[in-house]
Amino acid sequence: MIGSNMAQTAAMLRLTPNVCLYDPYPVGLEGVAEEIRHCGFEGLNLTFTSDIKEALTDAKYIVSSGGAPRKDGMTREDLLKGNAEIAAELGRNIKAYCPDVKQVVIIFNPADITGLVTLIHSGIHPSRLTTLAALDSTRLQSELAKHFGIRQSQVENARTYGGHGEAMAVFSSVVKIDGVPLDELKGTDKLSMEEWTALKKRVTQGGANIIKLRGRSSFQSPAYVSMLMIAAAMGDKVFTWPAGCFVNIKGLENVVMGMETIIDKDGVHYAQEINGSEEDVEALKNSYNHLVKMRDEVIAMGIIPAVEEWGSLNPNL
Ligand SMILES: NC(=O)c1ccc[n+]([C@@H]2O[C@H](COP(=O)([O-])OP(=O)(O)OC[C@H]3O[C@@H](n4cnc5c(N)ncnc54)[C@H](O)[C@@H]3O)[C@@H](O)[C@H]2O)c1
Repeated sequence: MIGSNMAQTAAMLRLTPNVCLYDPYPVGLEGVAEEIRHCGFEGLNLTFTSDIKEALTDAKYIVSSGGAPRKDGMTREDLLKGNAEIAAELGRNIKAYCPDVKQVVIIFNPADITGLVTLIHSGIHPSRLTTLAALDSTRLQSELAKHFGIRQSQVENARTYGGHGEAMAVFSSVVKIDGVPLDELKGTDKLSMEEWTALKKRVTQGGANIIKLRGRSSFQSPAYVSMLMIAAAMGDKVFTWPAGCFVNIKGLENVVMGMETIIDKDGVHYAQEINGSEEDVEALKNSYNHLVKMRDEVIAMGIIPAVEEWGSLNPNL
């Protein structure tokens, strides 16, 4: 469902006249293409194919949501093996058909790992790949706005970093509520510590809650926000949320994770340091450790080589 919504969003935002849909299962694909044609978007050149070579040859921007979604009761990690194999195949296809791609956005879960696997196998420069990590921050903004009874735009700088799984780091020290630092409100009658703990849980389980409420994994928000990332990579717009990218700095080594970034025509660039209180930075370390554990599981499965050997598949790493 994300794919069809992305195509529609790309057309609505007029990002490009040329959109190609790819899915190995042709029937649903043709249905999406037919329906988008029925929208009558002016000037749109929409094509579709189940041939990956045709889809990717010389592609400049790729967004992939092509993998299994979670069902009720599943975590993102439950998708690990199957979707990591799809990511390895996608990476190999990028290397073969569009090594000069300008930006790849990986959505399918667990996105930090599928993004890393795609990056390693594709051979592209790390600045050319991002993962959709922003929805945890938009969910934090939404939960805080609901709690304080204000508009979402009055919650400034809502930020989560690290993994996109439930072990993500929800930062409070950087957020402002209608101009007031959130940390000054925490532990008061405006937001008790029990309420903050419960709110954080609603953020980390925001995706699972959509599955409970709608009977399926979220699709409108990932479609819209990933297209904003592409708009930024095209140089048109500023992307204002954290994005997932390859990180290799002291203490946060050789993972793809949600960071403070800038996305522009040259790709994704990340801040070298994440500012936050000791408690927030500690949460980030825990999230990073969880990512390392998952990364090492994928190495043990043989889907990617050991870290020291990544350069043999991708000289940019
Ligand atoms: N990063 C995020 O914030 C975020 C948010 C929501 C969902 N997701 C993830 O996005 C993914 C897609 O979710 P959805 O609701 O659109 O699922 P969906 O089942 O509706 O669509 C997935 C599509 O992928 C296709 N597919 C299967 N194998 C493929 C392959 N090798 N290459 C390309 N396409 C392939 C399927 O045919 C299907 O049409 C899931 O993994 C979900 O967990 C991520």
